[in-house]
Formats: sequence, C-alpha cells, structure tokens
Amino acid sequence: MSEYEKVARGSLKLKGVSEHEIKKKKKKKEKKLLEVTKVVPSDDARKQSTKPANTKTKAELAFEKMQEKRKEERIKARAGKTHKQRVEEFNRHLDSLTEHFDIPKVSAPESRAGNVAVVTGGSCGIGLAVVKSLVQNGMHVIVGTLHPNELEREFGDWKKRSKSLGSVDCLQLDLRSFESVGRFCDEFFKMQLPLNYLINCAGLMLVPQSKTRDGFEVHLQVNYLSHFLLTHSLYPALKEGSSLSFPSRVVNVSSCTHRFSRGKLDDFNFNAALAYADSKLFQVAATKAWDEEMRQRAGYASSPVEFVSLHPGICSTRLYQHAWWFNEFTKACMDCILMSPEEGSQLVLRAVFDVSHGSRHGIYLESNRKASTHPVVHQRVFRRKLWHLTRDLLRLDAD
Ligand SMILES: NC(=O)c1ccc[n+]([C@@H]2O[C@H](COP(=O)([O-])OP(=O)(O)OC[C@H]3O[C@@H](n4cnc5c(N)ncnc54)[C@H](OP(=O)(O)O)[C@@H]3O)[C@@H](O)[C@H]2O)c1
Repeated sequence: MSEYEKVARGSLKLKGVSEHEIKKKKKKKEKKLLEVTKVVPSDDARKQSTKPANTKTKAELAFEKMQEKRKEERIKARAGKTHKQRVEEFNRHLDSLTEHFDIPKVSAPESRAGNVAVVTGGSCGIGLAVVKSLVQNGMHVIVGTLHPNELEREFGDWKKRSKSLGSVDCLQLDLRSFESVGRFCDEFFKMQLPLNYLINCAGLMLVPQSKTRDGFEVHLQVNYLSHFLLTHSLYPALKEGSSLSFPSRVVNVSSCTHRFSRGKLDDFNFNAALAYADSKLFQVAATKAWDEEMRQRAGYASSPVEFVSLHPGICSTRLYQHAWWFNEFTKACMDCILMSPEEGSQLVLRAVFDVSHGSRHGIYLESNRKASTHPVVHQRVFRRKLWHLTRDLLRLDAD
C-alpha cells in the first residue's frame, strides 16, 4: 500500500500535523492522482454532460419537416399516374421554362415594302430567318454569302412555295477578305439602288486559331473589321435611302458574350473564346462610335442613318459547330432548350423596324430593351481610340 493510500484510508498518522492539515493534504493528493489517471469520458457521456440531447436548430428542424412533407406529396402525386401522364407533365414543365421564348411575330410597316436591305450571314441560322421575313414583307434583299449560286437556287424554290412579295439577290461575299468586301460593294453600287437597311449578321465563333490573308485574327476580321468596312463603303447608299420620316438603319448583330471581353485594344488575343468576345465588344462600341461621329458631322443634329447593336438571344444554330462539345446529341438538346433561329430573328427584326429607338442612337438591345454593356463602351476615350485604330487598320482615309 502506497503512502498516499495509507493517508487516504486514514491509517497513517503523522506526527505534529493537525487533522485539518491531513485532510487538506489528502484532498490535494486525490486531485493529483485523478489528474495522472485521467479518464477520458465516452462520447455518449460527453454529449450527456455538455450538450442537450436535441442539438438541431429550429431552421434545421423546419427544413427536415418540409423535406418530409415534399416527399410525401411526391409519393401521393405519383401514386395514381401512368408513365404517359408523367411524361406529359414533364413536357408541360419544360414548356413553362421556355415560354418566355414565345416572341410575337414582327412584321414590317406597310410603308416599308419595296425598301432595300443588305444582309450578311443570310445563308443560314438567324440571318436566313431575317431574310425570309424581310422578303415576305415585300422588301428587296441583297444577301452577301460565300455560296451565292446555291443560295439563289434555294431562295428561288422557297419563293415559289411561299408566294412572297419581295425579291432576293445573292452576291459573293467572303468576310475573311477585304478585297471580297470591296467587290461586293462594287456589285451593289452597279445595281444603282438606295439602301434602307444594312444588317451585319454574319459571324463565327470558337474557330481554331488562324489568321486571314489580310493578316488579322479570323474572328476579329469576320465579325468586326469587315463589317466596319462594309458600313463605311455602303454609307453613301444608306444616306441616299434615308428620309426624314424613315432614316436608314444599320443593325449590328452582336452578342451578350461581349461582356466577357478584356476590354483592351492593345493586343488581339488568339484564344478563340476571348477573340469572339472581343470582336463582339468592338461591334457594340463601334455602333455607338458610328452614331457619335455621324451626328457630329451633321452638326449634332440627328444623323441620316441610325445605328443599333443587339444580342439576338441564345439560339440553336451552326454557330456552335466549332465548340469541342458540339455533336448530334448536344445539337438535339440545344434544339429542345434554346431559342430557334426564327425566334432570334424576331429580335433582329424589332431592332430593324422599331421606331421608338430613333432618339437613342447607338444603343445596345437585349430582348428588345436597352441593356447594360461592358463598362468600356461608356468610355468616350475607348470609343474614340477604337474608331481611329479601326480606320488605321482598314487604311480608311479621313474624310
Ligand atoms: N446563335 C446564338 O446563340 C447567338 C448568340 C449571340 C449572338 N449571335 C450572333 O448572331 C449572328 C448570327 O449567328 P447564327 O447563330 O445565325 O450563326 P450561323 O447559323 O452559324 O450563321 C452564321 C452566318 O455567318 C456567315 N459567315 C460565316 N463566315 C463568313 C464569311 N467568311 N463570309 C461571309 N459570311 C460568313 C455564314 O455563312 P455560310 O453559311 O456561307 O458560311 C452564316 O450565314 C452572329 O453574328 C452571332 O455572333 C448568335
């Protein structure tokens, strides 16, 4: 038996030490022993000692209750239904998700029949739907395309079937080449027509890294530079087609992805996604710059030509064909979920015909409403820099 145990059991008597002191020493030693042979309490014991049995907060309890209730409801709802009924219900749910795509059809004011429009990218997708609507509204449309003969044949067949009032001409245009843009404009001027609308709709996205013969990044040239050159070259015809009651209009089909651009003018990146965003940003900013410049030339009175840029909505078209994930399956999914090219074209047509935008030139539209843009679009310095840089790159003499 150790000394401590002897003390603890009271069997050891210490000489000259009071009873109280013995008790005190005993307590101290007991405490020391407890510390040496410390017993770690079990989990249960700890829970019991420190926390109350129910540690869930009120919110957690309410959430659990709600989940249980939903589960019960789901089981109840499923009970009496056949597979067919469940599929129909799912389809109704899908419809409700996409019902905001049901854009009312736009038709041109009657007075616009006989007007002339130039459309780029009119061979497929959104551009094709725009051309068809314009022709159905009795307008004369000139389509700039890589394959004019094939497209002319296709339009010929379609016109016979649809009994449209208007007419279509297809001219060769390759936006990867400034020379081709020049030839297209020469051909147009040979027709001796005034121009009421220029719809810059052609576009490329996520094309593998490449340069054009003119030495520019392919997205930059096709989506932005060539359209700028086209606008510059056709401006005299647009002025001629303009009247006080119906000013001519340039519609640049841009994209909401312009917001992902770095907003820099110093280097044109070869990252295909960024190059697309950059080219679309330049379209939006240049739309504003065109309006400013032309109004300034007209002494800040309203310019004879109006400029609008827009996002047509996310549509299932061939635009995504270069994306790594694009295949037959994903295309079929896109067809179900995204807007159709026809629906996208309605937003373009609204930008073409809506007269309420007239007083706010150079605006950017999304869902037919004025929308916010990349912050640099608001910077006059950026717009001026872009304007001069573009004219330098295209070697356009200051007029
Ligand atoms: N679809 C969308 O979700 C979406 C979203 C935002 C913005 N946008 C914009 O909407 C516009 C139309 O796109 P989309 O969806 O209708 O695409 P799309 O179906 O691929 O049509 C693109 C058009 O551009 C033409 N094109 C391409 N390269 C050309 C070149 N080098 N020279 C002349 N024409 C050329 C094509 O003509 P060929 O057939 O002859 O090659 C085609 O007609 C684009 O500017 C795009 O950026 C589309």
